[in-house]
Amino acid sequence: MGFATDCIHAGQEPDPSTGAIITPIYQTSTYVQQGIGLHKGYEYARTQNPTRRALEKNLAALEGGIDAYCYASGMAATNAVLTLVKQGQRVAVSDNVYGGTHRLFTKILANYGVEFAFIDASDAAAFDKAAGDFQLLWIETPTNPLMKVCDIAALAAVAKKRNAILVVDNTFMSPALQQPLALGADIVVHSTTKFLNGHSDSVGGVAVARHEAHAKWLQFVQNAAGAILSPMDSSLVLRGTKTLALRMERHELNGRRIAAFLRANKAVKKVFWPGFEDHPGHEIQKRQAKGFGSMISFDLGSREAADRFLRKLKLCSLGESLGGIETLISHPATMTHAGYTQPERDALGIGDGLVRISVGCEDVADLEADLNNGFAAL
Ligand SMILES: Cc1ncc(COP(=O)(O)O)c(C=O)c1O
Repeated sequence: MGFATDCIHAGQEPDPSTGAIITPIYQTSTYVQQGIGLHKGYEYARTQNPTRRALEKNLAALEGGIDAYCYASGMAATNAVLTLVKQGQRVAVSDNVYGGTHRLFTKILANYGVEFAFIDASDAAAFDKAAGDFQLLWIETPTNPLMKVCDIAALAAVAKKRNAILVVDNTFMSPALQQPLALGADIVVHSTTKFLNGHSDSVGGVAVARHEAHAKWLQFVQNAAGAILSPMDSSLVLRGTKTLALRMERHELNGRRIAAFLRANKAVKKVFWPGFEDHPGHEIQKRQAKGFGSMISFDLGSREAADRFLRKLKLCSLGESLGGIETLISHPATMTHAGYTQPERDALGIGDGLVRISVGCEDVADLEADLNNGFAAL
């Protein structure tokens, strides 16, 4: 089936008891058994839930994995995947990942005897030379918030040489634009909170596996550690993915327009977006993804300028998160990347004037008019 068809149908059958076309929200904690060991594959709702399972099958199909497991948030999915790593092992991480990922790795998991090395992975050959040995490689591409592009296929080869697992956080692209498993990644992670849900009304996460052994472990951790996605949230994401192909087409069109619009404004020092032909990762992005997405960062030079600009916006809402149908705008240094220290942010180039926009699906002329209100304050 084609991608848009899978968005709408994969993992879902009419409800067997009523014929309901939409998978019901199975809001139950347990299932009645007919005798000892006599059940229909459902025992307890932390372990199995039909709504969650429908979503997991849908997401496995969209990413081309053999199975998927949903968790209570993107961070819970990340945490579950990191249980594949044992004490004494080493994890290589592309630099400038989401601040919460950096915080989980450095402030919690590092306490359990796992070493984390943050390395620029935008040049796969240089990364190969610099990285040393590792058992797991964690990348985002494009990275948050500086939109550096990592070559997934080349890094899969680098990881394979070391017998290491390659995990790609595909939150920024969604499977509509990029499918890392087909490029050699072993596991894909999403914050389903973002483009997959798409309507800013649910927090969740998923890990999609390419190999049976990883899938089994992720299922075991989902049940054993218990950070499951609720039936209500599963239903919301399942509804969201039905329109993923459609929404991403519009995000892509609006993203292109807004990136060019921002670059044309003299108050903007620099625009970070892989769709520009002079972006260092442009050719890789063209090769490995179907588009450039609607995540764009731009530098207004100082915190004061960013603040003046952001206060004047009405349609573009200032807030954490991204990937909703409505345009969201954020200030990475004080919001998503506040978990990094100032020297760490300085080293990465996440300046105080940096603003990140998640371009939504509104009429693009209205977005431009709103952004012009911001520019008028500079
Ligand atoms: C790229 C990326 N990965 C993971 C996460 C974490 O997801 P959640 O907020 O659902 O825990 C985020 C959140 O912003 C993100 O931007």
